[in-house]
Parts: sequence; C-alpha cells; structure tokens
Amino acid sequence: MEKYVNGIAVKEYGDKNQPPIIFIHGFPFSSGMWEQQIKQFKEQYYCITYDIRGLGKSPIGDGQYTMEMFVDDLLAIMDGLELNQAIIAGFSMGGYITLRAIEREPERFSALILCDTKSEADDNAGKIKRAQGVKAVNSYGAEKFATAFVPLAFAQGARQHIPDIFNATLEQAAATSPEGIKGCLLAMAGRTDTTKFLSDISVPTLLVVGEQDAITPPDVMQMMHERINGSELVTIEEAGHMAPVEQPEIVNQAIGDFLSKLS
Ligand code: MLT
Repeated sequence: MEKYVNGIAVKEYGDKNQPPIIFIHGFPFSSGMWEQQIKQFKEQYYCITYDIRGLGKSPIGDGQYTMEMFVDDLLAIMDGLELNQAIIAGFSMGGYITLRAIEREPERFSALILCDTKSEADDNAGKIKRAQGVKAVNSYGAEKFATAFVPLAFAQGARQHIPDIFNATLEQAAATSPEGIKGCLLAMAGRTDTTKFLSDISVPTLLVVGEQDAITPPDVMQMMHERINGSELVTIEEAGHMAPVEQPEIVNQAIGDFLSKLS
C-alpha cells in the first residue's frame, strides 16, 4: 500500500504485526531498488520502503536538503506508522541516513543492515566531486549526470550480463529531477562523519558489500566491521556498488541468515 507520511511517499508490505524493516535506498535511486528484497521478506516481516525527499515520488520542494532533514523524515515516518523501533536496511546514502539516525536516536533501532555504505564524511576530494556534480547537472542536465554515474555503480560487464536490471536502474535515475539530484549531492557533501560512533553501536549489525564496489569499497566496510562490535561482514562476488540489485539472491540469503538470528 502506498501513502504519504509527513509528505514522503511510503509503501508498506506484509503484516503490521510482524517485525518491521525499513529499507532506505541510495542516490539517485528510488524505493524500487528494493523490489527483490521486498518480494523475499514481506511474508515474514512488515516491510516499509520510502522515497527519500527529492527522489522517486517524494516532493522535490526547493531542493535544499540536509542529512539531518533526511533523518527527520525517517523518524517522522516511524512516528507516522507508530513504530517505536525498527530494523533498518540502508543502502549507500540510505546507510548515511541510517548511521546518523541511530547516532541521534539509538533506542529507535533494533538491528542494522548496512549495504555498500560508509561512515566517513566526504573528504576534500569528495566535496569537490559533489561540487562538480552540481555543476554538471546545471550544465548538461540530470539525465547526462545519471548516465555518467550509474555505470560506476555496477560491476564491470553488468550492462551486458544483466541488461534489464542495468537499463531499468539507469532509466529510473535519469528521470530524477535536477533539483533533487543537486539537493542530495549537497546534503551528502554536508553530512557529519559517524565513524567515531561506530564503536557505540550495540545492536546486531550486518554489513554487505559488493566485491567490485568502487564507491564504498570493501576495505571501507571492513574498517566499519572492525569497529562495530559483533558485526558480520558479507562480501558479494560479481557485484559492484549496487549489490542488492545486482545479486539479489545472494544478498537476500545474507540478510535472511542475519534476520533469522535476531530474537
Ligand atoms: C549512493 O549510492 O547512494 C551514492 O553513490 C552515495 C554517494 O555518492 O556517496
């Protein structure tokens, strides 16, 4: 069922009495990237997806976003759905939101699934790249930006091996509004660093990374794994940054194994 909660486009699947999992997508994607995970987990869990402000069906507004605002949206969705606590699966930018949200309100989250993400804020080179992204959107438009960005998010050869998935992802990203893309780029550039908080995370945590992830690479997630007490790290072969989309069965197996161990 699709509805707007605090202005954000939210979809719910499964039985509200089952344990809730909120899936947060990455940039410049939409909640649709979790299709294969929802299919797998909606029978046993109350699954929630939503489109981050500026992306998918959520409002673009004035394109002025911050990571704090994205966290506010997540917490407002939880309040709106009357969820005191949830398991969160955050992919990349969705992981940035997840990490900052648990740092701000640790009692609201019972377990974390962090896919292809990182705790470090952008360094100088990263900030310059975001600025170049904003400039590229202004000069050439959102479609060209997405067309250049999406291939970097997939493993080598994905365009040939999984053309339907690759093309659907590209098509969705290319349809994103310029204001939404620029707003997210600036929100990511301005986000805080959550690395120091990693050792304070006390809930079960699964880390998943594509072995060919060039955006949030395996060594970065290995560092997070070493700092998060008792965390598990699963590396997905033949996958890039978009591991949950590129290798859904293997990622779902890892998520399912992790969830089955939660009480
Ligand atoms: C994402 O997939 O959300 C982005 O690649 C994250 C980023 O650009 O830092």
